[in-house]
Amino acid sequence: MNFYIMTLFPEMVMGGLNNSIIKRALEKGLIRIEAVNIRDYTLDKHNKVDDYPFGGGAGMLMQAQPVYDCYKAILKNIENVTDSPEDGAANAPRVLYMSPQGKTFTQKMAQELAQEENLILLCGHYEGIDQRVLDRMNVEEVSIGDYVLTGGELPAMVMVDTIARLVPGVLNNDDSAVDESFADGLLEYPQYTRPEEWEGMKVPEVLLSGHHKNIATWRREQAIENTRLKRPDLYERFLEDEKKKP
Ligand code: ADE
Repeated sequence: MNFYIMTLFPEMVMGGLNNSIIKRALEKGLIRIEAVNIRDYTLDKHNKVDDYPFGGGAGMLMQAQPVYDCYKAILKNIENVTDSPEDGAANAPRVLYMSPQGKTFTQKMAQELAQEENLILLCGHYEGIDQRVLDRMNVEEVSIGDYVLTGGELPAMVMVDTIARLVPGVLNNDDSAVDESFADGLLEYPQYTRPEEWEGMKVPEVLLSGHHKNIATWRREQAIENTRLKRPDLYERFLEDEKKKP
């Protein structure tokens, strides 16, 4: 899977992502991440990419031209993508625009996006981006939560990390993406490792029993209880989904 990140701070994005599990996935060639500097595409002689908003108001806006030329350069490098979406190229990759106004990013959304071959993530800065280029690129606005960051780089890193670990082979044990929090609408059960007793506290007996069925039952009960206590909203939805099951 290929991620193209349109940003004014490519080093920040690559520095944040080229570690640990994602680094290993990059080295194995399971994913590719390209951070493309929007500033490289400005036609301004002072390398400017922003200007004042028409009609007045606080701050500066990113201009349409460098953003669009950067986008077109990315498309040109992707195999089989002939042109931009407005020219009728149905195969243009989805463009996610990092914005606090967007749909809230969820595990479900990540699972869906992990099916894509190519994804473009657009990071805004200053007070935003000229609306015309957002319309032209047919962006999908995505937010990582109801708070405002100084730019889209951290959200892009959050999304790439979340999506990349769902790509087959990225996690060592394929099960680890199945069993985890949110995967089936529940939070995870508590986990324990050696020693069996630490500071007078013992590991739950059932986990030492070797009885797989009992362990699975215990874990499911714990996951349900954990969800009820920590995330009553998820718990309600879980109960409704259970009711619908035959
Ligand atoms: N840019 C600024 N704040 C953001 C947020 N919460 N999510 C996505 N992009 C953003």
